[in-house]
Amino acid sequence: MISGTPDYRDHGLDFPEGFLFGSATASYQIEGAYDEDGRGPSIWDTFSHTPGRTVNGDTGDVADDHYHRLDADLDLMKRLGLESYRFSIAWPRIMPSGSGAVNPRGVEFYSRLVDGLLARDIRPIATLYHWDLPQPLEDAGGWPARDTAFRFADYAEAIGAALGDRVHAWTTLNEPWCSAYLGYGSGAHAPGRTSGRDALAAVHHLNLAHGLGLQALRSVVSKPDAQYSATLNFHVLRPGDDNADDAMRRIDALANRAFTGPMLRGEYSTDLLEDTADVTDWQFVRPGDLEQIHQPIDFLGVNYYSTATVRTWNGRSPRQTADGHKDAGGTPWPGSEMVEFIEQEGPYTAMGWNIAPDGLEELLVSLHEQFPELPLMVTENGAAFDDQVVDGAVHDERRIDYLQRHFTAAHRAMQRGVDLRGYQVWSLLDNFEWAYGYTKRFGIVHVDYETLQRTVKDSGHWYAELIRSRSIPPGPRSAR
Ligand code: FCB
Repeated sequence: MISGTPDYRDHGLDFPEGFLFGSATASYQIEGAYDEDGRGPSIWDTFSHTPGRTVNGDTGDVADDHYHRLDADLDLMKRLGLESYRFSIAWPRIMPSGSGAVNPRGVEFYSRLVDGLLARDIRPIATLYHWDLPQPLEDAGGWPARDTAFRFADYAEAIGAALGDRVHAWTTLNEPWCSAYLGYGSGAHAPGRTSGRDALAAVHHLNLAHGLGLQALRSVVSKPDAQYSATLNFHVLRPGDDNADDAMRRIDALANRAFTGPMLRGEYSTDLLEDTADVTDWQFVRPGDLEQIHQPIDFLGVNYYSTATVRTWNGRSPRQTADGHKDAGGTPWPGSEMVEFIEQEGPYTAMGWNIAPDGLEELLVSLHEQFPELPLMVTENGAAFDDQVVDGAVHDERRIDYLQRHFTAAHRAMQRGVDLRGYQVWSLLDNFEWAYGYTKRFGIVHVDYETLQRTVKDSGHWYAELIRSRSIPPGPRSAR
């Protein structure tokens, strides 16, 4: 083993037995088959079909056609040696109109997926909501409407009853920050609305959905050792100048504590309520809601890609707002519009996100300090680069380097006492990257969108070696 180098490019670091090496995807990003077997429309169908909303007008109509290639994709996972697979369930396949009757053909697809994973000794980690809200629920008000949280609990109960004898771990929500602030605040994500008040109401109703959904799941799941979780995308903040404490506190409150507060402590922090007082009076938080939300979980899912550097706008320099997401007119930071997101030091991925493995170590250690009893799992980490297939291979050295550095960071966090249970690389397959359409490739497996052919990238082979040996292999620039 090489002793700790400052750039995190270590190898030979061993991971314990039981640590789950896997990969992650999401329903709308890979499945396609958008109108088959009784699936209803979701907000992402509507949004992507609206001119100007996604790059090139790309939609998830076909995506990776995973719906029709399930068995081949399962075999691919097995070839890579995945120990777990984090997927999401499309609510509009299970309840096409968002409530009421369950669609048996939708359930059947996920049942086959779960059985196919178990037959290959891969643990299913199922996310209930990765952003594809049934369109009829949006028409009835979407996440700013309280009723949506109760419809989510009904959906959780239905799918929990169907798959609850086999799923290893359940995740209620993926990145509610994006659902609330990009969906209803900035408008960069579906449904593309731009109201600070609605974004904050969505925050609360997503939290409520998490709590109600967990209780519904627990009431029907029969697998005694099933685990329960939520996945959050944390903003790891760096000061943009000597006077950045307030900017950092504000973004931490809106982005991080707005979710960890109610979910893990049963409270919204006073500073969050004060910072947003001009936007909303938070009357949508009803008596008893916080108790409903504050339910025990078995681990917290952590999605991490890069850091954010902020400061308070001084009114003199041209204002910068780049926060790593497409600007669609509204603000994702209601009540804190004076905070600037400033450009960070590279290197960068194809998303323009800075590569900062130290941020992952810092985040895991900080979460462990805040919630010492709570196990963690990296539920997403990975990188987009402009990959090319040359002679049947994809030499994506920069992705290997990225993964090597972030696995090293996770290992360091574990050495510092963090109870980290696993790591789900984003993503198994190149896929529909939301507003960026098919222009950003995150896969460890390349997908040719003309032929839908899959080609394992060098990073996929590297990861397979990591899983096989349970030890970080050398990367492209490590001493070999
Ligand atoms: C996360 C999303 C995931 C993917 C990655 C790159 O925010 O959860 O679906 O888009 O970013």
